Amino acid sequence: VTERTLILIKPDGVKRRYIGEILGRIERKGLDIVALKLETVTRELAGTHYAEHEGKPFFPDLLEFITSGPVVAAVLEGPRAIAAFRQIAGGTDPVEKAVPGSIRADLALDGGQNLVHGSDSVESADREIALWFPELA
Ligand code: CMP
Repeated sequence: VTERTLILIKPDGVKRRYIGEILGRIERKGLDIVALKLETVTRELAGTHYAEHEGKPFFPDLLEFITSGPVVAAVLEGPRAIAAFRQIAGGTDPVEKAVPGSIRADLALDGGQNLVHGSDSVESADREIALWFPELA
């Protein structure tokens, strides 16, 4: 089943000059990049994007972090694209959850500053693509 997913290279990934590294891994996996941009996230967009985490203890830090510098936003397309990207990203905690060989296991240490985001379901992919790339929806 062909799917689309919304992914972000978070501010830590841009600052650490991993845009090429991460996009390279996406291309080597075989996913198509169908939309791509560099953007500094507004507080409003960040709050809407992460609405499901509102009220959690890490929410203020998450908003502060995600708005701290430019991010790369992209829409990926391919068979099982949502799970495929989550596989190459690795679990949220780069040490406890991410499998070696994944972006987070190989390149990150922190559960908050973990380099990438990827939609977790078809429903969130639809919602996040509409949010970041309204022209595609
Ligand atoms: P992401 O996939 O972008 O979705 C929610 C984000 O919240 C997650 O990646 C992490 O960056 C962040 N997050 C989740 N759990 C924690 C935590 N315990 N502490 C800090 N940040 C977290």
